[in-house]
Amino acid sequence: MSGGVFQDQGGFYDLFYESKDYQGECDFVEAAFNRFATAPIKTVLDLGCGTGGHVLPLSARGYGMTGVDLSQTMLNQARRKAEEADSGAVFLHGDVRDVEVGRTFDAVISMFAVMGYQAEEGDLAAAFATARRHLEPGGLFLFDIWNGAAVTESPPEANSREFPEDGGGKVIRSTDPVLDEARQVVAVTIRVRHVSPQGEERESQELHSVRYLFPDEAVNLLRDAGFETVHVCAFPDLDREANADDWNMSLVAKAV
Ligand SMILES: C[S@@+](CC[C@H](N)C(=O)[O-])C[C@H]1O[C@@H](n2cnc3c(N)ncnc32)[C@H](O)[C@@H]1O
Repeated sequence: MSGGVFQDQGGFYDLFYESKDYQGECDFVEAAFNRFATAPIKTVLDLGCGTGGHVLPLSARGYGMTGVDLSQTMLNQARRKAEEADSGAVFLHGDVRDVEVGRTFDAVISMFAVMGYQAEEGDLAAAFATARRHLEPGGLFLFDIWNGAAVTESPPEANSREFPEDGGGKVIRSTDPVLDEARQVVAVTIRVRHVSPQGEERESQELHSVRYLFPDEAVNLLRDAGFETVHVCAFPDLDREANADDWNMSLVAKAV
């Protein structure tokens, strides 16, 4: 992962993803727990937790939640929201490729293509190893990732969207993706222009390199990290296979 993603622009993350259905995704996570766990899941580690989109609802549903993220900007928002919600969730600063939380969990989740952000050689294996280290045998690892079949069939296109802010400002987010099939990476240049209610402008640019995977490859990498894959599906639909129309697929793996 290149340094600094979601640092400058992380302050606008919740605005950009206001309409993302985190409660529905938590329903999906719980359905996977209920279907594949062999013992009740009480504690969950979220690798790349961002602003707490899954940690906080799952905490409210009674899970003991710990989130890890590399971006202090994202963590600051997660902690503020946890305080507002009087949540006991714990947020730690760390890199999913080498973080040591110092305990194991009943499940590890990593949502919204965080594993894809581990795009350089060896990064993904390191992140899978982190998930495995934080589970006992039989523990569940659940994540969603970009599906190679869909990404290569319908490559991403440049896009621009304006987000009005409360109080009269606005944020314009433009994405310019480049598909690199040799590396199985989409390198997305993201430009954000913030216009304050007084008309002051501030711009930032981040490069997000996101790796996509094909199911067999993911299963092999998971096996190398000490997991048995128990389910591959379209995200977020446990009962549907991921096909070339599904940009997002999910894998559920069990620690061996
Ligand atoms: C697309 S966001 C997803 C955030 C959250 N999981 C959600 O669903 O809203 C990707 C997150 O992964 C984090 N991230 C990416 N690479 C990371 C790494 N190596 N270690 C820790 N966090 C990382 C980013 O900081 C960002 O918060």
